[in-house]
Amino acid sequence: MASPRISLLLLVLTLYICTGQSKTISTDNIDVRITNKIASSTIDVACSEEGDIIVNPNTSHDWIVWNSSSKYYCEAIWTVTNHFASIVAYSRRFTGLKIVFWEAREDGWYVSRDGKSGWKKEAEWESEIVN
Ligand SMILES: *[C@@H]1O[C@H](CO)[C@@H](O)[C@H](O)[C@H]1NC(C)=O
Ligand SMILES: *[C@@H]1O[C@H](CO)[C@@H](O)[C@H](O)[C@H]1NC(C)=O
Repeated sequence: MASPRISLLLLVLTLYICTGQSKTISTDNIDVRITNKIASSTIDVACSEEGDIIVNPNTSHDWIVWNSSSKYYCEAIWTVTNHFASIVAYSRRFTGLKIVFWEAREDGWYVSRDGKSGWKKEAEWESEIVN
């Protein structure tokens, strides 16, 4: 049996390793905030370098742009209808912003530079997968 002190040390080390960021530290740290405005459904969002995230109605998910010179894509599924959409969540057109605000609405995907005004539709929901 490990002494309590060693157990504590191991616990702290494990927490440190599990919560530590494995990605390289970037100075960019731009947030892409995706808000689900579809009241009746979750959306399932997968963005570059990150697995699927379920975003509940009226909630947001933030992820960080590690390289502001890169383009980042997100694919989304409107869970209840199975409609899907894809957006260029971040590209250099958003240079200078700390947060890029995206909203998933029933009639499509909107982006705003301040999260309050100037919402612009950027993508439609699509209902068939074309191969
Ligand atoms: C989401 O917000 C809208 C507007 O504030 C509200 O009408 C709706 O009931 C909310 N839906 C949920 C699931 O919280
Ligand atoms: C950032 O992205 C640009 C453009 O894709 C690339 O040329 C550059 O190497 C990237 N920087 C890092 C640190 O990955």
